[in-house]
Amino acid sequence: MLNERFPILSGKGVTKIFGLGRQKTVAVDHVDFNFYAGEIISIVGESGSGKTTLAKMLLGLISHTEGDIFYHEKKRDISSQKKKQEYWKGIQAIFQDPFSSYNIFNKIDSVLLDCIYMRGGRGLPHAKKVELMTEACSFVNLKFEELTNKYPFELSGGQMQRLMIARIFLLKPKILLADEPTSMIDASSRATILDYLLKLRSETGMTTIFITHDIGLAYYVSDTVYIMERGKFVEHGSADEVILTPRNEYTKRLISDVPKIYEEWDLSTV
Ligand SMILES: Nc1ncnc2c1ncn2[C@@H]1O[C@H](COP(=O)(O)OP(=O)(O)OP(=O)(O)O)[C@@H](O)[C@H]1O
Ligand SMILES: [Mg+2]
Repeated sequence: MLNERFPILSGKGVTKIFGLGRQKTVAVDHVDFNFYAGEIISIVGESGSGKTTLAKMLLGLISHTEGDIFYHEKKRDISSQKKKQEYWKGIQAIFQDPFSSYNIFNKIDSVLLDCIYMRGGRGLPHAKKVELMTEACSFVNLKFEELTNKYPFELSGGQMQRLMIARIFLLKPKILLADEPTSMIDASSRATILDYLLKLRSETGMTTIFITHDIGLAYYVSDTVYIMERGKFVEHGSADEVILTPRNEYTKRLISDVPKIYEEWDLSTV
């Protein structure tokens, strides 16, 4: 699919320490990584291993205490608001809690219109904007006509999740970071979201960083897997390497917790 393999996002010694002295938590501890363009990369680890903290640093929502992050093989510079805005055209996130992703006072048309504006489409004719929004909604099986004039809180949880994917469809970032919804979402809408993520990747070639507890799911969706334990990457490689021939004890333990990892997921029955 890709003729050129290059790391779109990398890190060297990336570290996050919260607090000071005895209150200090080393949430992410000197991690090195190369996330290649067009791949689906999973970051797998137990609760508290530092996944969301790493995600927030990658997004530039919090600063890192030590180390360097590289974007398109250059040291990332988000030192001004303008540079940050530019960076966020390239990297977008889907978070665990869909409610936190929307300004509840904005109607759905304006949520979607904002995406068009972010991509420089402010001057497009109205009909073209409606066409783009309709296309994005139908990508996730939503009907734009039925959503217009509604507020995000008037949608069901599943519709809201799909609206998040529709936003990504419009924004077309180079990198999508998905912090896996766990408790928020039932198994079948989870499978639907995953299918949309896979479809987005195959249509747009977008690099996807997928954060999860679930090593079985990581095996199902990803090209490359990174295993995180207490702030460190303890193992990484292709999904087959890491999951079929794990070398690390922690990885082996995560795998042994999953009863049927070798079986392909049948999403139709979830
Ligand atoms: N703002 C903060 N201040 C202090 N400590 C924090 C902060 N955010 C996270 N931590 C700590 O950093 C560690 C890693 O947390 P993080 O949220 O990154 O874990 P996680 O892997 O995303 O867990 P989960 O799978 O439960 O979402 C935890 O010990 C957590 O308590
Ligand atoms: Mg988390």
